[in-house]
Amino acid sequence: MPPAEVIQATPTQYLLGAHIENLDLSVPLSESQTDQLTVLLGLYGVLEFPNQSLTTLQLKTFSARFGKLYISPGGRAQAQGFAEVMVLSNMVKDGQALGLKDAGQSWHTDMSYSRMIALANVLYGTVIPQRAGKSLGDTQFRNMHAAYEDLPAELKSRLEGKTVTHDFNKFWEMMRSRPGNIRPALSQAEQNSRTPAIHPAFLTHPVTRKKVLYVNPGYAIRINDMSESESQEILEYLFDFQLQPKYLYSYQWKKNSVLMWDNIGTTHNAVADYGPQEHRYIERCQVMATRFYDEAGTMHPIFFNPTGEST
Ligand code: SIN
Repeated sequence: MPPAEVIQATPTQYLLGAHIENLDLSVPLSESQTDQLTVLLGLYGVLEFPNQSLTTLQLKTFSARFGKLYISPGGRAQAQGFAEVMVLSNMVKDGQALGLKDAGQSWHTDMSYSRMIALANVLYGTVIPQRAGKSLGDTQFRNMHAAYEDLPAELKSRLEGKTVTHDFNKFWEMMRSRPGNIRPALSQAEQNSRTPAIHPAFLTHPVTRKKVLYVNPGYAIRINDMSESESQEILEYLFDFQLQPKYLYSYQWKKNSVLMWDNIGTTHNAVADYGPQEHRYIERCQVMATRFYDEAGTMHPIFFNPTGEST
């Protein structure tokens, strides 16, 4: 068999991000390509694949190579006929919103409130808002490998072995409290299906095998096994610490790009700098980290070794 072709990635000048040209994501990935992209995802945190032409089914098929796809229990904003594909959009057709118009508009890590965390998000943007020749609605990222590395040694040893509770309701209520927001309160059934989850404050990334700061302002509510006031003080410190500009990579959308990011080693934020008439339409799959953890979640890592057995 000929050796598998090596996928070339061109890194950005920032601590995150690489561009991968000349890979047609409408063609099903081979095992080698899937493994290579998984390694690149861990290494660069954010991968852009420009100039794609995908159907919703092809987006779903590409995403599903990396793990089980999440289906939101609320059933909101699903692409027609695809429960695993969510629409992020401010567009309206025949009086109906095409998607969620305010998803992710504050710093967070998707699915940290779930026992099975998310490995990656895969977004395909086909309508990108523009003003004066410039794209709006950037998706921003921060590097949690680097944030962990830089933490003061004293804090690292104080938090070593500690766990953090993450709660979906925190982000939801924060969004609801914004002026003009029309999100309804979560129903009891939705709350029951998303009970808070506990993860290590410092998670060993299953691909890079390095530690990341797995504490995000969107969902982290409590450092366990310490007093409420100490927990609050340290959480505030960690939230401020990770916001340092040196960890930032702001992705400026290009029409027809696919953007894939590592949900373990980064946090992200959707910039709401466009108006209702400046249209945005993006389809999104949420890839769960099912290749890397068993049902007990982060407490049971399965480390990734693309050249041999998983351990
Ligand atoms: C998200 O998945 O959090 C939304 C990202 C975006 O719309 O830019």
